[in-house]
Amino acid sequence: MKTLRAIFVGVGGRGRTHLGPWVAHERLDVVGLVDINPEYLAQARAVTGLPPGACFASLTDALAAVEADTVVIVVHAQLHGRFIREALEAGKHVMVEKPLTCDLAEAEALVTLAERQHCRLMVTQNKRYLPAARTLRRLLAAETYGRLGFGHYVNYKARGSAYPVSDHMHLWQMAVHELDELLATIDRPVVRVAAREFQPVWGNWPSESTISAVLEFRDGPTISYLSSSDARAVGHEFRVECERGALIHRANRVGDEGHLLFVSRAGEQVLALDPPVDPPGTGPGMAELFARYVLDGVEPEISGRRNLATMRLCDAIIRASQTGQVVEPAGEAVLQPV
Ligand SMILES: NC(=O)c1ccc[n+]([C@@H]2O[C@H](COP(=O)([O-])OP(=O)(O)OC[C@H]3O[C@@H](n4cnc5c(N)ncnc54)[C@H](O)[C@@H]3O)[C@@H](O)[C@H]2O)c1
Repeated sequence: MKTLRAIFVGVGGRGRTHLGPWVAHERLDVVGLVDINPEYLAQARAVTGLPPGACFASLTDALAAVEADTVVIVVHAQLHGRFIREALEAGKHVMVEKPLTCDLAEAEALVTLAERQHCRLMVTQNKRYLPAARTLRRLLAAETYGRLGFGHYVNYKARGSAYPVSDHMHLWQMAVHELDELLATIDRPVVRVAAREFQPVWGNWPSESTISAVLEFRDGPTISYLSSSDARAVGHEFRVECERGALIHRANRVGDEGHLLFVSRAGEQVLALDPPVDPPGTGPGMAELFARYVLDGVEPEISGRRNLATMRLCDAIIRASQTGQVVEPAGEAVLQPV
């Protein structure tokens, strides 16, 4: 059986959650570890059983010393682009944590490079695979309660401190997940965006912690989006109004799957969430999706190429906020003042 051999870059934080599923997977293997922190390398050696000789402080050294097919990148978002480029130029497939990069033009260039190198590039944008998102997507696609009209998506994250220093930190760390989930759930492109990125009056983070936006989807449905990582208390609600009633997903704890309601004039009904898709939207699911992509040629929803829709929406939010105008994702046209 063909096995994909990976070098992992960043094994301390989130990287740990990917290591286990890779080690356990029958078609995936970990052959090299890269991190600037020797303690994290030691911990990752315990998980993988790799010798000290398979540990490196730089990807360049690892690529020179170890035979691998793939590079898995789980470092701070601002470093993604640099490591993706180095891996692709060495002819390796790439699995990278979200966001693909923190810049649309760079993301587009890397997708082009991956195609030129005949390499696969996948972004582990997992939120869109969670049961609530899949259930909503199924109900909306089938128009079970009639056509979708409008709605709101609000997320209050009380993180307590800033993310690692970067521009647009809430957008690239958190909102990118939610915008990807919205694109997956409503399953059609956004055509116009108005937005404001800002700090609340108490905000002292190095860059914006909060976004308010109006997203107009193709054929009319409009979603009012509000999301912050610097809220005072946790809360999440995604509500869509359909012709015969509203679907409401609420969650009030971190990691809570929440509950889904259908509310109409006839009353309120709790809807069961669909079982997790195969593979599920967690660590093992990401490893399996990548194995299927590279070894079986099955392109996932979260391939680098497909993820450009999410990158274009993030970029539109930045441009709309900076110009104060309504913009089109991936288009230069400024349509009208807000
Ligand atoms: N999908 C999700 O739900 C989710 C959750 C958390 C984090 N993430 C993503 O995972 C990525 C990493 O986040 P994190 O919270 O683990 O960050 P982190 O800073 O906690 O860990 C990053 C790791 O990279 C290492 N590192 C830093 N610079 C390096 C370099 N130049 N070369 C090699 N290693 C280096 C660090 O020592 C550390 O082990 C980010 O892209 C983040 O957005 C995704």
